[in-house]
Amino acid sequence: MGEAERAAGRVASVMQEARVFPPSAEFSRRARIGSLEEYRRLCAAAAADPEAFWDERARELPWIRPYTRVLDWQPPDVRWFVDGRINVSAVCLDRHVAAGRGGKTALVWVGEPAGERRTLSYAELHAEVCRFAAGLRALGVRPGQVVSIYMPMTPELVVAMLACARIGAVHSVIFGGFSSEAIADRNHDANAVAVITADGGWRRGAQLNLKKNVDQALASPHHPPTTVKHVVVLRRTGQPVEMVAGRDVWWHDLVAGQPADLPPEPMDSEDPLFILYTSGSTGKPKGIKHTTAGYILWAQTTAEWVFDLRDDDLFWCTADCGWITGHSYVTYGPLAAGASVLIYEGAPNAPHEGRFWEIVEQERPTIFYTAPTAIRSFMKWGMQHITGRDLSSLRLLGTVGEGINPEAWMWYHDVIGARRCPIVDTWWQTETGGIMMSPLPGCTPTKPGSCTLPLPGVSPQIVDAAGDPVEPGEGGWLVMTRPWPGMLRGVWGDDERFRETYWSKVPGKYLAGDNARQDADGYYWIMGRIDDVLNVAGHRLSTIEIESALVSHPSVAEAAAVGRPHDVKGEAVAVFVTLRSGEPGEALQDTLRRHVRQQIGALAVPDDIHFAAALPKTRSGKIMRRLLRDIAAGRETVGDTTTLEDYTVLANLRGHDE
Ligand code: WTA
Repeated sequence: MGEAERAAGRVASVMQEARVFPPSAEFSRRARIGSLEEYRRLCAAAAADPEAFWDERARELPWIRPYTRVLDWQPPDVRWFVDGRINVSAVCLDRHVAAGRGGKTALVWVGEPAGERRTLSYAELHAEVCRFAAGLRALGVRPGQVVSIYMPMTPELVVAMLACARIGAVHSVIFGGFSSEAIADRNHDANAVAVITADGGWRRGAQLNLKKNVDQALASPHHPPTTVKHVVVLRRTGQPVEMVAGRDVWWHDLVAGQPADLPPEPMDSEDPLFILYTSGSTGKPKGIKHTTAGYILWAQTTAEWVFDLRDDDLFWCTADCGWITGHSYVTYGPLAAGASVLIYEGAPNAPHEGRFWEIVEQERPTIFYTAPTAIRSFMKWGMQHITGRDLSSLRLLGTVGEGINPEAWMWYHDVIGARRCPIVDTWWQTETGGIMMSPLPGCTPTKPGSCTLPLPGVSPQIVDAAGDPVEPGEGGWLVMTRPWPGMLRGVWGDDERFRETYWSKVPGKYLAGDNARQDADGYYWIMGRIDDVLNVAGHRLSTIEIESALVSHPSVAEAAAVGRPHDVKGEAVAVFVTLRSGEPGEALQDTLRRHVRQQIGALAVPDDIHFAAALPKTRSGKIMRRLLRDIAAGRETVGDTTTLEDYTVLANLRGHDE
């Protein structure tokens, strides 16, 4: 079966199960946007005059200098709020403090070790951010320079992001699960001048070696001499670390004696706020660039629309700040909106598989936003972890990162939401900066498995390979026809790749890289990627990145990585390798797994490793990925995978028509 048929089959089965859930009357009465008419009115206004629509919203931001024009759009280059000056940390902090809300809780943090908990009010967070920003400035960090952040999920991670924003430094957060080689790649690509890290972090009771990984990254023999001059180290676990004189400084020493109030740097609307590396269809992750004013407006507006934020909400987004979801819906969106944010440091199954529900009972969050892969884990771990827990504080549930299968949606709705909480299935990407398609709670009737409709101001279209809109009901490439304030502004240091990846196949439109289909009600159904990007447990991984990691091992001659269906992770990584040396078997499988962990990180470690005498190829020499996907998924039977298999035989049986 081909990719298109598989996608069609997926949609058909989803549609069969699709049941429409109307918004609850109680929710709609109180929601910010409480009716479909209101939603349609906003969409119409945004479509009729986008500049007036965004102008009206941007005016609410605390400008240091007002913009002179709303939009300058010369595809693919865009400028929003031209000539304006603003500071994102002041949007998130100062304006709330100035409005008398300094005493409101900004962060509630729960550590993984039992009993660890801290809260920071907006005024306290403001002071911490100012002190740390002053410390960074004292080190010599200047506006426009890149600072990498490689930290556990602690309040200091949020402080570090906001402190960079305060002095105009561009942060590049690197997820704590990435290896030293991955850190070195990112530091090198961005010319980072400093790294903010911690001695370690807690993960399932074990200590992560964060500082050690940074040390190794800065000494990586596979990269040119590092551009990093300073390493700031938070003491988190107390584990022993080596401090390099003249380069390394403890966080607590850096902030000692710094002022609790530091004026924010007036940044241009289009100055970069952050870069975030994400996987694409080549071996090298790309640094997605987001800028200042448009991004923060998008993060705040979407947080308010989709999560219907109210003053008494406690918002829990379970994502790590190493991913875009953590940027936009842990740090920037909710804080810009003045909400209270709950952060948990550890894993959902540490010290036990009911940890999240224990936290819900204790902290009483009202909104819970997580990934479908987590929901499928909760289902697997069983009701004994949930029954008897008081989840009554929850009023709204969300999902992000991958499509949600209707079974998981129903479980989430029935068990966690007790059939009273609306579910928002939010489709978006690192590149889009914030949510693009999602139901509005209390307003949009939901169908399990569909991200429903675009937010006001978002203009999706489904097109064929010629760039023409497909017939209603047909699948095709998802594009955006109009710019939106939160859109990416480029790939760091690589304009060519930016144009080529997002703007060349369908000229003048943003190519999202997903296949999608619209149903008779106009609802969108995402049907997976058009490129070689995998979605493993909600994480974006490039097959080519995994292949490059494998062939960098001396035993491996050739490698092909594909995804295969997985109950919990959505997709698992299966690799096929031919060998230069070494014996196929479990020992070599272990070695290769360790090697990928070292090159990229634990998240990319292959689930299955198949050894092959040769890889099946087309006449023109291209690896037959479709056949490998079928083998990996067990749709084609082959024998014992720890000994050499000759897949070219299967290729010959099938013909060369890939
Ligand atoms: C997928 C995560 C279906 C999609 C915010 C997209 C989804 C990629 C959904 C971006 C959803 C994300 N339904 N698929 N609700 N949300 N995706 O950059 O393939 O880590 O292109 O951003 O995840 O992943 P990224």
